[in-house]
Amino acid sequence: MTVPPTGTTGTTGTTGTAGRAPVAGTAGPAAGTPGAAGAAGGRPGPDGTAPVLQVRDVVVRYGGVAAVHQVSFDLLPGQILGLIGPNGAGKSSLLAAIGGQQRAQGGSIMLGGRDVTGTAPYTRAHHGIVRTFQTTSEFEAMSVFENLLVAGRGAAGASLWRVTTRWRTNREEERQAATKAWEVLERFEMAELADAYGRELSGGQRRLVEIMRCLMCDPSVLLLDEPMVGVAPHLVAKLVRDLRSVAAEGIGLVIVEHALEVIEQLCDEVVVMALGEVIAQGSYETVVQDEGVRRAYLS
Ligand SMILES: Nc1ncnc2c1ncn2[C@@H]1O[C@H](COP(=O)(O)OP(=O)(O)OP(=O)(O)O)[C@@H](O)[C@H]1O
Ligand SMILES: [Mg+2]
Repeated sequence: MTVPPTGTTGTTGTTGTAGRAPVAGTAGPAAGTPGAAGAAGGRPGPDGTAPVLQVRDVVVRYGGVAAVHQVSFDLLPGQILGLIGPNGAGKSSLLAAIGGQQRAQGGSIMLGGRDVTGTAPYTRAHHGIVRTFQTTSEFEAMSVFENLLVAGRGAAGASLWRVTTRWRTNREEERQAATKAWEVLERFEMAELADAYGRELSGGQRRLVEIMRCLMCDPSVLLLDEPMVGVAPHLVAKLVRDLRSVAAEGIGLVIVEHALEVIEQLCDEVVVMALGEVIAQGSYETVVQDEGVRRAYLS
């Protein structure tokens, strides 16, 4: 039985940007507010907020084939940006290039004004970019609590060896990670499942654990690849609320999702890709009426 430490009940402020390169105006527009959209083209937000993430002319090739061709967008703190498009459009490849799992053969990625192009995933996680994957990737033989501890210690992207060898070296760090794990569990109403093993969870609970693992790393940017896949309909609304609350803290979200009703509910800005290129960008209402988008994706 995992016993929560005293003093964590009801705590909500689980994430922050402490120890990170300063980002102007981290209390950026919250999800769904009118000021949240409109950061395209490297412009600051309407209130002068600097983008937390700047993706410029990014190219990803597999062999000779360009899966992503010169894609650019900006993300403000607290903004929710949807990335949509048909199968094979290059959405996951773009997330991988931003997260560092895939090398970008062209372009640049700036995080809070820092050039992270070419750095390893764990370096980017340390600086604030973390991601979830199209297929859930929690450790099935570990409890939910242990999954969170591992994420908090190693930061997403660190090798299991790095995590486990550091495990016993710093008791204070261990205590802090445990306190934070309880805060995250309570915030997402998952404390009762602290001892459950990854393999015992439902699809929606697994997705939630992945998001919670990301939050253990104090991200400034969270990349989510199809977070609603495998989630039962009654849990989709909860996940939407949870993601809104994450963005409301000033964390920028990029969400790849085929469920357009989720994109409509969540996103301040939508980027549409097809065959590796951006074919439209703007509000959900604008892009779904775009003729090119209708032809490439919606017809
Ligand atoms: N590791 C790889 N090696 C070679 N080609 C790849 C690899 N990963 C993806 N591709 C190709 O790159 C293109 C873009 O794939 P990607 O997975 O990024 O698309 P996607 O938009 O995420 O699609 P989906 O909506 O189906 O997840 C596709 O043509 C795909 O076949
Ligand atoms: Mg994909």
